[in-house]
Amino acid sequence: MYKSYIQEDSTYKGGGKKIVMPTGIEVHKLSSNENPLGFSKKVSLAITNAVNDLSLYPDNTDIRLREALSKDFKEQLDADHFVTANSGSEIIDIISKVFLSEGDEIIVSQPCFLPYTAFTRWMGAKAINVPMTPDYDYNLEGILKAITAKTKMIFLASPNNPSGNYIPYDVLVAFLSKVPKNVIVVYDEVYRHFAEASDYTSALPFVLEGYNIIGINSFSKTYGLAGLRVGYCYAPLALSNYIRKVCKPFLLSSLALEGAIAALEDTDFVQRTVDLVQEERKFVLKGLDELGIKFWPTEGNFVLIDPPVENIDFTKFMESKGIMVRPVGVFGAPGKVRISFGVRKANEAMLAAMKELLNNL
Ligand SMILES: Cc1ncc(COP(=O)(O)O)c(C=O)c1O
Repeated sequence: MYKSYIQEDSTYKGGGKKIVMPTGIEVHKLSSNENPLGFSKKVSLAITNAVNDLSLYPDNTDIRLREALSKDFKEQLDADHFVTANSGSEIIDIISKVFLSEGDEIIVSQPCFLPYTAFTRWMGAKAINVPMTPDYDYNLEGILKAITAKTKMIFLASPNNPSGNYIPYDVLVAFLSKVPKNVIVVYDEVYRHFAEASDYTSALPFVLEGYNIIGINSFSKTYGLAGLRVGYCYAPLALSNYIRKVCKPFLLSSLALEGAIAALEDTDFVQRTVDLVQEERKFVLKGLDELGIKFWPTEGNFVLIDPPVENIDFTKFMESKGIMVRPVGVFGAPGKVRISFGVRKANEAMLAAMKELLNNL
């Protein structure tokens, strides 16, 4: 009756809630890569207006949101290239459902976002891990060698969570040209807005060229709507039209639909978020450097560090100072910690706490 691969403890638990500290100690949540600016006022307004209609079913399709996405992509893609759902994570779940069966294989490169292995396992697929190099770079040659007749999907993230590395355009071009036509590349780009490298690429040029690639996106990061639960993917029409066949009517709540559409319209808020992340990234990396903390280059709104003490003790110490950070052993980075970039005050508090720890060693 029970499926063994579901009975295994593979539930994705996600990061914790904001801690409560004694009065006088401010809490800075730098553990879930959330948007330190919150979210757009236009979203609040759209959601407040939509609240009045909560007794009515939402639109039975997501077409207005998909049209807004098409506009956001400067009409290079049509509404039909998109699939929306209740988060980027749910998109991963949906594509696992439509493409995977028991006995299939998928390839991941740890450290990586946990749902790649957890959600694909629910379909009975086996994850083959081709670990990143010690410097946290993809071993793309290794991935190509790991492809078998059973391989259905390869998961790549750029920037990757939790390591922050990205895949340069030319490297991706060379890789995709060698991937067999029947294997889908799931390209997770939920942190794409934060990337500054001139050779960074989203999945867009490859989708336009008709590669078997799916770009995964989320409203939780740049748009600051982690609590609203909205995400989307885009892909060549053959893939997107197929994936949408399993999407249920009324999948997105009216609040999620209106909120997401309003978020796409507020390009000033997006710009402010990107500016803040890019500026604070420089500030934090410089601070870590000055403290002599080992970290890896990052294009995301977070950085992976090698803490000066055991990672759980480090996390507890930081928490005692009101700073929430994330140990990422479970992601496949044993002993390491991921720290999100906050506003300047939060980043200063984080660096000061780390300095205090180092002084007491
Ligand atoms: C790499 C990566 N992909 C996808 C997601 C999914 O985000 P959400 O489910 O909040 O849309 C996250 C969230 O942390 C992530 O880090």
